[in-house]
Amino acid sequence: MCGIIGYIGRGNAAAVGLAALKKLEYRGYDSAGIAVLNTRGIEIRKDKGKIDAINRKLNMNSMQGNIAILHTRWATHGPPTKRNAHPHLDCRGEIAIVHNGIIENYSSIKELLEKEGHTFSSETDSEVLAHLIEKFYRGNLEEAVLKALQEVEGTYGMAVMHKNENKIVAARNGSPLIIGIGNNEMLIASDATAILEHTKKAVYLNDKEVAVVKQGGFSVKNLSNESIDKEVKEITWSLEQIEKKGFKHFMLKEIFEQPESMKNTIRGRIKDRIKITVDIDMEKIKRIVITSCGTSWHSALIGKHIIERTAGIPVEVDYASEFRYRDPIIGEGDLLIAISQSGETADTLAAIKEAKKRGARTLGIINVVGSTIAREVDTGIYLHAGPEIGVASTKAFTSQILALTLFALYTRQEMGMQINKNILNELKNIPEKAKMILDKKDEIKTIAKEFFKSSNFLYLGRGINFPVALEGALKLKEISYIHAEGYPAAEMKHGPIALIDENMPVVFIATKNGAYEKIISNMQEVKARGGKIIVVATEGDERACSIADYVIHVPETMELLSPVVNVIPLQLLAYYIADMKGLDVDKPRNLAKSVTVE
Ligand code: F6R
Repeated sequence: MCGIIGYIGRGNAAAVGLAALKKLEYRGYDSAGIAVLNTRGIEIRKDKGKIDAINRKLNMNSMQGNIAILHTRWATHGPPTKRNAHPHLDCRGEIAIVHNGIIENYSSIKELLEKEGHTFSSETDSEVLAHLIEKFYRGNLEEAVLKALQEVEGTYGMAVMHKNENKIVAARNGSPLIIGIGNNEMLIASDATAILEHTKKAVYLNDKEVAVVKQGGFSVKNLSNESIDKEVKEITWSLEQIEKKGFKHFMLKEIFEQPESMKNTIRGRIKDRIKITVDIDMEKIKRIVITSCGTSWHSALIGKHIIERTAGIPVEVDYASEFRYRDPIIGEGDLLIAISQSGETADTLAAIKEAKKRGARTLGIINVVGSTIAREVDTGIYLHAGPEIGVASTKAFTSQILALTLFALYTRQEMGMQINKNILNELKNIPEKAKMILDKKDEIKTIAKEFFKSSNFLYLGRGINFPVALEGALKLKEISYIHAEGYPAAEMKHGPIALIDENMPVVFIATKNGAYEKIISNMQEVKARGGKIIVVATEGDERACSIADYVIHVPETMELLSPVVNVIPLQLLAYYIADMKGLDVDKPRNLAKSVTVE
């Protein structure tokens, strides 16, 4: 979603700011812009399109000055156009603002301001902030921002500057914002990856906090104008981790990082006992609700199988966006598990708040350390999968399943039940098995070559591998724009079987697990109707091979862990198909890496 950068220091603010803004491109955007403060006042350059193209057209990096705010916009209110791009100015051109989030009462504020003589140049909700701050400005930007924010309902991560003040005022409510403390320079960013080149020292703003950032330091207040002491934290990621390292795309790099990211998720957590620090008395938990979105929702569906079978606690899975609005029955004795790679997904965050309000305990399974969700939950398990830059989630998904497995085993242990040593050993073997699949990339590429021109795909799986079918289909549709559906294989005959003909590739996840015999029958049904079958099958399985047109072999593993292995060929298949279509795999159209609006 939208990205924010602010820079104040000795360097050229436009050059530093644009380099940092480019690090946010992965979040997804449709327009970009910059405001630089110099002796002539505030100068703005912005347009729709990608940063490089806008820069070629408008020479943004030639702008002179030591203070700048920059933005990438993912349109919500008003289409992606030059005038809707940020930064926005007040009437006098003295205050510039960049904003992420949604100002819910913007139309009533706008109406009022228009009556008072303000004229607006965009259709955005964000522009009202510039005018509202102008209305309250009496020579002190911080005071004006504090007053303006009293009037505002909604979410914001914002950075503002005034032509007469050598500072940036930043504020946050529901949209992430951090301050990076560099050497004689300070940065503001909506995402830690953007500031890593300059500093690893960061201050995370909380909701309803306002910061004044100057070249030599910063101060933070709450909306009641009281000063707040903030802790300076160390960002654990390195610059190297956010580089492509010779891979054509981040997505491909992240698929290939999985043996390592999986090891990092389980490292130090499997000893004689499961060692995770979960600050919840699991014996008191009678029911678990897992909530999340997209790929993280698919890992939740797998988590349900793992937890129910391992710990015997009933688990419900709900889309966060549905959970929060349907008056959910949840309260004391319930545990809400929220799964999120980014830790910033607005719907998941709102679901957590709702569950807390109703008395449930909350646990996060999160990748980004220090993210909003990580700070909102009562307790949590970090994935330690490293930064995921490609918009399509890959390594976070497999790490989420491993983290859920650790949690299920931990729960069993806390309930006084024995843990089978086989699963502990197999967890340790999984990274090696992932590597064996990655070594088969050329076979998967050959299959992609056969099918990259197809217009539809069906993915079928059963039991714990049904969510893998959903995930395979999601990966394909989001990066290749090919229509794909995931279905429980047995449900096919209740409708989707009508779609099967010789033009329909059907991907089966048919490894040798519980429902193997049944899924072999489902494959026969597709074959009898002329469908083209691609099967993910267990190494050495001749039967599946004899029915399928194309086979991807995966090493044998325990059923509970099979999704971790089985999804990898599907990630690669989607990647190669999208790449063969010449698409921008890391930045698929309309998508954003972290969805911070509802
Ligand atoms: C798909 C994908 C999305 C995310 C979803 C939730 O590849 O990346 O579906 O999984 O937006 O994001 P997080 O996990 O950050 O809450």
